[in-house]
Amino acid sequence: MYNTKTKVIAAFNQSGGAGKTTLVHNLGYHLAKKHKVLLIDMDPQASLTTFMGVEPKNLTENQTIYAAITDRGELDIWHEPIHNMHLVPSNSFLAGAELELGRDITTDSRQKLKFTLEEVVDKYDYVLIDCPPSLGYLSIMSVIAATHLIIPVQTEYKCYAATEQLLNTIGRLKKGGHKDLQIAAFVPTQYDGRTLQHSGILEGLKNQIENRAHITKAIPNSVDFPSASQAHLPLALWKKNHPAVNILEEITNHLIKLNHAN
Ligand SMILES: Nc1ncnc2c1ncn2[C@@H]1O[C@H](COP(=O)(O)OP(=O)(O)OP(=O)(O)O)[C@@H](O)[C@H]1O
Ligand SMILES: [Mg+2]
Repeated sequence: MYNTKTKVIAAFNQSGGAGKTTLVHNLGYHLAKKHKVLLIDMDPQASLTTFMGVEPKNLTENQTIYAAITDRGELDIWHEPIHNMHLVPSNSFLAGAELELGRDITTDSRQKLKFTLEEVVDKYDYVLIDCPPSLGYLSIMSVIAATHLIIPVQTEYKCYAATEQLLNTIGRLKKGGHKDLQIAAFVPTQYDGRTLQHSGILEGLKNQIENRAHITKAIPNSVDFPSASQAHLPLALWKKNHPAVNILEEITNHLIKLNHAN
């Protein structure tokens, strides 16, 4: 797919608040201890940009992913790494791309992010893409640019029910020409083992997914996640002995061990 061994991993789930951005920020941090990492914010809400400590409102069009995927400018990587991670920010301009590119029938505009990344992938070991909470154009474009998907799923009934739809969408994209796409892992998130509902949902999720993809240990529900993000820090720098840090390390090691499909 790309001419490098770079893993391009998109955090994908149409459900809002599943934990995509938190996962990209934290896994990016752990991967960046030993590898070259680029984060791409593909959400017009720009949460990843904000979590990284960059103010979306202050960005010009050319400083965001919007310019590159709409051919308005070169891919502009934020001028300095943040906790060792490189970032292509986003802001609300990106919402316009969905409409613009959706109207474009002359070129394969769904491949715009992939074409953009082709120019830089060889400089990185990992590119992590934060998708918006929809199955719209920006998410599809992100999945087409990805070699792997990581799928956070809240241990709530509504998310469990939406997982079947998610697996169908991934199946359709694979059939539609993206056959090498791999599911890196499902990551149960915001898990509270003390509630019977959560432990029941986690069991159900394991049964639903087990034969189709890897499922990681559950990331516990903890107020330290939003607190760390608000402080613009990955959890490990906010509270290094937090029990979730080891789980994030384990998920990182799983990503490192993954192979490409071809
Ligand atoms: N393990 C956790 N425990 C408690 N809160 C969490 C956890 N993970 C994420 N959160 C919080 O839940 C909210 C949603 O998380 P996040 O923004 O990462 O999800 P998302 O899937 O990116 O959301 P969106 O779909 O809006 O992009 C945030 O306020 C975040 O701080
Ligand atoms: Mg998000």
